[in-house]
Amino acid sequence: MTQENVLEALKNVTYPGFTKDIVTFGFVKDIIINGSNIALTIDITSSADEVKAQLNDESTAELKKLGFEQVSINVTAPAAPKQMSNSVSGKNIAPHVKNFVMVSSGKGGVGKSTTAVNLAVAMAMQGKKVGLLDADMYGPNVPRMMGVADQKPEIEGNKVHPLKAYGVEIMSMGSLMEPGQSLIWRGSMIMKAIEQFLRDILWSELDVLVIDMPPGTGDAQLSLAQSVPVTAGVTVTTPQEVSLDDSRRSLDMFQKLHIPTAGVIENMSGFICPSCDTESDIFGMGTTAPVALEYDTELIARIPIEPAIRIGGDTGMPITYNQPDSETAKRYQAAATSLLAFIDKVNAEGGADNAAVQPTTPPGVSACSTGAGAASTPAPAKSEDESCGTGCGCH
Ligand SMILES: Nc1ncnc2c1ncn2[C@@H]1O[C@H](COP(=O)(O)OP(=O)(O)O)[C@@H](O)[C@H]1O
Ligand SMILES: [Mg+2]
Repeated sequence: MTQENVLEALKNVTYPGFTKDIVTFGFVKDIIINGSNIALTIDITSSADEVKAQLNDESTAELKKLGFEQVSINVTAPAAPKQMSNSVSGKNIAPHVKNFVMVSSGKGGVGKSTTAVNLAVAMAMQGKKVGLLDADMYGPNVPRMMGVADQKPEIEGNKVHPLKAYGVEIMSMGSLMEPGQSLIWRGSMIMKAIEQFLRDILWSELDVLVIDMPPGTGDAQLSLAQSVPVTAGVTVTTPQEVSLDDSRRSLDMFQKLHIPTAGVIENMSGFICPSCDTESDIFGMGTTAPVALEYDTELIARIPIEPAIRIGGDTGMPITYNQPDSETAKRYQAAATSLLAFIDKVNAEGGADNAAVQPTTPPGVSACSTGAGAASTPAPAKSEDESCGTGCGCH
């Protein structure tokens, strides 16, 4: 039995979440054959135990089929991230979720949901346990984009099981309502819904919950930041100046809510023509990096306008999963890798902390940390559902 026979057999073992096998990825190393005994190393990039176990089992089965009796496989992986809840202080109403990522944008239609979907799928393909919460109650597009639009979640008591697709747990107001229904809700109702999505959905022990926020900066954003420590904020923008103005507001909001900013994704950045594969400039290109710098953060991906991205969204087959070899899928994967590295960095430095945006004041008084003296100057008493006038939904 030769090394070539062994490599040929291990080509039947695909890496979980990918179409490629572990030999093509170059993960198989140090093969030592001694009669009917074999030892080898599989050197992977994911630290998930399920990935290790699956590769060990499948590779052992392939090698036994070749006739080896003693199979010793050493799966090496980077050290697992520190097992900790990130709440240093302050509230975390979903403590079984390790990290929360807020995907926001200054305005609608810039590709926020598309980005949230593809980042979530990319992180799951990289071996993380990922959830995707569609918190855009007025425009819940995630179920269609993830291909679960016709599924209804299972209810258990007063809790709801998330749906699942592409290795990602999913929940959306769209999955709880009849198709085409609209929500006409006040800010306080949105805030309540965000809390319930975190508290009453039976999310697994997740490494990351990606949250697709409504556009803009408002009640939902504040409510999320007050309910859980948000580890990372990602802003999605298109390259036109008018869109960048709104993105500045979104980046400013992260700072005010004490959310560490992972970076900006420039979407619809250039057009890759499907028939000639050349890239042309439609909305402009490369305008975002200087804005990111203004807020001490960076551009983590430039995603072109590509018909395949829109088709992936409309048909519920995200491009990152369905065309993993495309340039766009690679860019989403690279953005997911930088996001995960950023999350590790935030945690290594002590984790996210939402104590600074916690309400410390009696009802009717501003709880926002944004305005100087807001907490010490009692606002006139307001009835429920009425704005306190600071623009940040503080009831
Ligand atoms: N890079 C892109 N190339 C082509 N179509 C895109 C791209 N990004 C988003 N789209 C499409 O644009 C529309 C709006 O995107 P969406 O993610 O729903 O935006 P938002 O959540 O910000 O409102 C969707 O139909 C989506 O498929
Ligand atoms: Mg959306």
